[in-house]
Amino acid sequence: MSNSPADSALVRACRGLEVPRTPVWFMRQAGRSLPEYRKIRAGVGMLESCRRPDLVTEITLQPVRRHDVDAAILFSDIVVPLAAAGIDLDIVAGTGPVVAEPIRTAADVARVRPLTPADVDYVAEAVRLLLPELGATPLIGFAGAPFTLASYLIEGGPSRTYLKTKAMMYGEPQLWHDLLSRLADITLTFLRVQVAAGVSAVQLFDSWAGALSEADYREFVMPHSARVLSGLESAGVPRIHFGVGTAVLLEAMGEAGADVVGVDWRTPMDRAAAIVGPGHSLQGNLDPAILFAPWEVVEREARRVLEQGRAARGHVFNLGHGVMPETDPGVLTRLVELIHSV
Ligand code: CP3
Repeated sequence: MSNSPADSALVRACRGLEVPRTPVWFMRQAGRSLPEYRKIRAGVGMLESCRRPDLVTEITLQPVRRHDVDAAILFSDIVVPLAAAGIDLDIVAGTGPVVAEPIRTAADVARVRPLTPADVDYVAEAVRLLLPELGATPLIGFAGAPFTLASYLIEGGPSRTYLKTKAMMYGEPQLWHDLLSRLADITLTFLRVQVAAGVSAVQLFDSWAGALSEADYREFVMPHSARVLSGLESAGVPRIHFGVGTAVLLEAMGEAGADVVGVDWRTPMDRAAAIVGPGHSLQGNLDPAILFAPWEVVEREARRVLEQGRAARGHVFNLGHGVMPETDPGVLTRLVELIHSV
């Protein structure tokens, strides 16, 4: 066991197979919490850094070296394939993705063209550079799910209310489905490039799907995410499906075709396990804010997550959302040691 990424604890837990110990990695483990990341990114734009295989390789490896996590996640961003498909956007520090001309009309949607593998050749190149460096440590590829990508494209940037997104969804359902279908194509191509280059698992980030009711999720979003996930079925790598605030969506997110459902900190893992059933593993779900509490609290809460995670078919320990930039990286290292020792 664990001599190859395909037989690693991460992949085995995703499939519900026996593991020597619970695998652990952190969403946003690469990033501003690490001084070595801030140093290497100095003076290089976020999108530019994602297009440079040498930088992607180094940044992806940084948290693996420092924390001894059980998986690497490719350094990239959910909007990288959108920019590669010709959409004018930028990633603004402290804000997030900002789209120059938001997508709101039929003419706008018609501008969203398919992605070709050649558009993101630098991503495949980075994966190829990473594999020999990682050895038996699995590399997770990822992409944004159609709804979360659509929210950035329609709003033009981050949003709290998703008003324009929902206005299109409810007001022009045909246009909505056209847009999400185009985004599903882009996402599927982006993930297939990563799988072909050698990633051992993929995560579909539907970070903002929690803005929807279950009924609306099932009608307006799930068919498109399901097409992405089912399109990867024959790829032979586990598929992780994650969102924030998705307590009422967990069942549907599993049904959409995921091997693993990602859970945020609001839903206890044992309750999530009862909701998704024995056909799926779970990933999560320590509140990233708990890392700012005294160590005794971190330890108590991490042990609780591990204990509640035993109710699932398989458990990948993670935070309930990404590492906050202000997090003390020493606490993350200590947390990995704790999970490995239990
Ligand atoms: O280590 C990893 O997890 C891999 C790297 C990763 C990034 N973005 C790098 C990044 C991953 C998995 C993402 C996905 C992503 N990007 C999501 C889904 C995950 C989630 O958090 O729900 C979303 C919604 C985005 C969009 C996005 N890009 C946001 C909200 C931000 C933060 C803006 C900010 O500055 O606070 C980004 C920029 C971004 N993506 C950074 C990193 C490391 C920060 C940019 C920087 O360091 O200057």
